[in-house]
Formats: sequence, C-alpha cells, structure tokens
Amino acid sequence: MKLFVFSIVCSFLQISRQNPPTQWTLLPHILVVEVDGSKSQLPLSCLQPEELPRRGNESLDIFWMKDKEAGAQRGNTYQVRLQESLGGGSYTCYSRNGSLLNHTEVLIQEKGAVRRKILVKTDQGTVSFCSAQNLNGEFRCSWTWDRLRVGVVAFIRAQRASDDTQCSVDSGGKHWSCSSHHSKFRCSVDDSGNGITCVDELHCPYAEEIQQIHITVYVKTKHFLVENYSKHFYLSEIVKPDKVHINKVNTTMIEWSYPSSWSIPFSYFPLTFQIALFKRDCEMCVNPCTDSKATKTLMVHSTDICRLEVKHKSKAVCVRAKDALCDSQWSEWSHLRNKRNKENKENKHRPNKKRA
Ligand SMILES: *[C@@H]1O[C@H](CO)[C@@H](O)[C@H](O)[C@H]1NC(C)=O
Ligand SMILES: *[C@@H]1O[C@H](CO)[C@@H](O)[C@H](O)[C@H]1NC(C)=O
Ligand SMILES: *[C@@H]1O[C@H](CO)[C@@H](O)[C@H](O)[C@H]1NC(C)=O
Ligand SMILES: *[C@@H]1O[C@H](CO)[C@@H](O)[C@H](O)[C@H]1NC(C)=O
Ligand SMILES: *[C@@H]1O[C@H](CO)[C@@H](O)[C@H](O)[C@H]1NC(C)=O
Repeated sequence: MKLFVFSIVCSFLQISRQNPPTQWTLLPHILVVEVDGSKSQLPLSCLQPEELPRRGNESLDIFWMKDKEAGAQRGNTYQVRLQESLGGGSYTCYSRNGSLLNHTEVLIQEKGAVRRKILVKTDQGTVSFCSAQNLNGEFRCSWTWDRLRVGVVAFIRAQRASDDTQCSVDSGGKHWSCSSHHSKFRCSVDDSGNGITCVDELHCPYAEEIQQIHITVYVKTKHFLVENYSKHFYLSEIVKPDKVHINKVNTTMIEWSYPSSWSIPFSYFPLTFQIALFKRDCEMCVNPCTDSKATKTLMVHSTDICRLEVKHKSKAVCVRAKDALCDSQWSEWSHLRNKRNKENKENKHRPNKKRA
C-alpha cells in the first residue's frame, strides 16, 4: 500500500513537471534544448511518421545508442531525460540488422541562474572581443576559455541587420557563410579554436557604413552544453591599426610608414600618429614605450610623408597610430632605439599579414 501511494505521488510529480522543454534546431541533426534545471523529457524520433508504414514491422525493432553506448530504449521514439544540465549527447538509432537510420545531437542551453560562462571574453577597451586591422571588411573576434570549460564553436551567425540571414557550415565545421540581402559574411574558426576571422564580402570601404554588424557565436563543451555570445558594432568602431613601421631615427629626424595592412588610399583613410621621444631608453623594460615617461609627445596627421624633424637628442622613439576620422583604438606601440653609427635592426615588427 505504501509503495502504491509512493508511485502515485511520483508519477503525479513527473507529469506535473513535464512541460515539454523549449527546443530549436541549430543545424540539421543538432537540437538545442533550453533547460531551467528541473526534470523533463525530450522525445526524439528516429524516423518520420510517414516513413514508418513503409518500413513495416522493422520499425518496431529500432534500437538506440547514446554516445556510442547501447541504451535500454527501443522503438521509434526515444525519451531523453533532462535533469539539471544532463541529457545532452549524441543519439543514434539503428535498424534490427545494425544499419544506422538517423542521428541527433542534443545540446543543452542552461537558462537563468543555472547558467555558467564557458568563455571569458578578452576585454580590451570599449569593444571587447572583436577588432579589425583596417576598414576593408575583415575582422577578428577572439576569446579565452574558462579554465575548466573548454569548448568548440558550434554555430556562427553574422549579419548586418536582423533579417532573413541563412547560415551554413562546411563539412569540416570550420568555414561558415551567412547570406542575406544586406550582407554576405564568411567566417573561419582559427586553428587554435580561440577566435574567428570574418569578412563581409558586400562591404564597401568607400561608402558610409549604415548598418551595424551583429555577430553571435555559439560554443559547446564536450559535455554538450551550449552558450551564445553576441556583439554588435560598426567596423569603424573596432578598427585597430597594426603596428607602425619605424624606418629610421637619427638625431635630426624620425621616419616611419603606414602599416602595410592599412586600407588604401591613405589620403582617404588617414591615420593620426602619436610620437613619443625618450631621453633614456629603458632597456630593462618589458614595454619600453609605456613603462617609462616620454620626454616629449607629439601628434602628427600625415597621409603621405611620415617624417618628423626633431631638434632633440632622444635615445628612443615610440610611434603608434589610430584612425584619424573615428575615435577607435590606438595600435600597439612600435619602438626604435637610436643607436648612433649602428645600423638599426631592432624594429622588425613590420606587419606583413596579407589581405585577401
Ligand atoms: C532524422 O532526425 C532528424 C532530427 O535530428 C529529423 O529532422 C529527420 O527528419 C530524421 N530523418 C528521417 C529520415 O526520419
Ligand atoms: C514482420 O516480421 C516477421 C519476422 O519477425 C516477418 O516474418 C514478417 O514478414 C514481417 N512482416 C512485414 C510486414 O514486414
Ligand atoms: C539492413 O536493412 C536495411 C533495410 O531495412 C537494408 O537497406 C540494409 O542494406 C541492411 N543492412 C545490412 C548490413 O544488412
Ligand atoms: C542567447 O542566449 C540567451 C540566454 O541563454 C538567450 O536569452 C538569447 O535569446 C540567445 N540569443 C540568441 C541570438 O540565440
Ligand atoms: C638623418 O637622416 C636624414 C635622412 O636620411 C639625413 O638627411 C640627415 O643628415 C641625418 N642626420 C644625421 C645627423 O645623420
């Protein structure tokens, strides 16, 4: 009698809590289920109902595996038990003779309080996580993983407006494309897995950028947890030029050049340069441009000849650049020591990344 009452209570509890969880398809054969921590069940179908009659009584003998391990459930429908963040996995179904019929990957998205972060965004200035080395349409977003929760990119959506964007991925899972009327993005995942590089193929650098880029990256852990990270920005806001090349420093002048990766023509995409002169070079410094105080700092706007005459015996020079027309990030500093009578070979930081 006791047992009977107990089982009634249990089944009552189970029924009352089993509202079907919210689910949506991330990619074909990949389902995302939103969980709030409570128990529920997610039914998976092996074959579509219309397929069943054609397959006759064979369909009654479907068996399932979860993460390559045989489960106890049989038949066309498999009930995935969801509890806390458990239930995600790779589900496969087979016919009686062992041939694969279908497969579904279930990913868990934790809602609200149960949610913990997988990524630790790299925070640099106002626009964390995405930057561009010029205004041509290419940009990179990068991040660092939480120490305990490394993952992989599961989905990328990049678009200009929240319109009818269609995104797809190649079979290797590294190259994504998202197309709509307003934009055509291609993104690829870095080999390190810590970032993506995207280009908007419809972007025109000579026209005003009217709509922001919206980018959402879904990442998943090996425990089948998924999270999304979004960012929206104008390219002009996230631009950060590569390091300036300092060609020459002597006692009377400083000569440098635009980063080779910067947008051309330079007259249309001018940079502002900041020049810092140092009476003493801090040889022990890790960052000689920021670890000691400059004796003099100058701002230079130049679109062609990047040369500055100085009447100043500086031992070291630092130069950095930023977009002259938009308040975006400064480049990293370039540093050159003024070694008299010696060929100066120190500055080897010339950027040589090629643009597609
Ligand atoms: C296989 O499963 C997917 C869900 O992952 C479903 O959309 C699809 O219709 C199934 N294929 C067949 C042939 O039943
Ligand atoms: C059902 O299965 C049995 C054997 O298990 C077989 O003899 C029979 O022909 C099958 N019927 C159909 C309609 O496939
Ligand atoms: C298993 O059965 C299916 C039909 O249900 C058939 O298409 C397939 O070739 C069979 N595979 C093997 C290994 O016998
Ligand atoms: C990203 O995740 C949050 C929280 O899980 C959710 O509210 C939001 O709708 C998701 N955004 C997209 C674009 O899927
Ligand atoms: C510094 O370099 C410029 C250009 O190469 C040269 O004209 C000038 O004479 C040099 N100054 C000294 C003191 O060597």
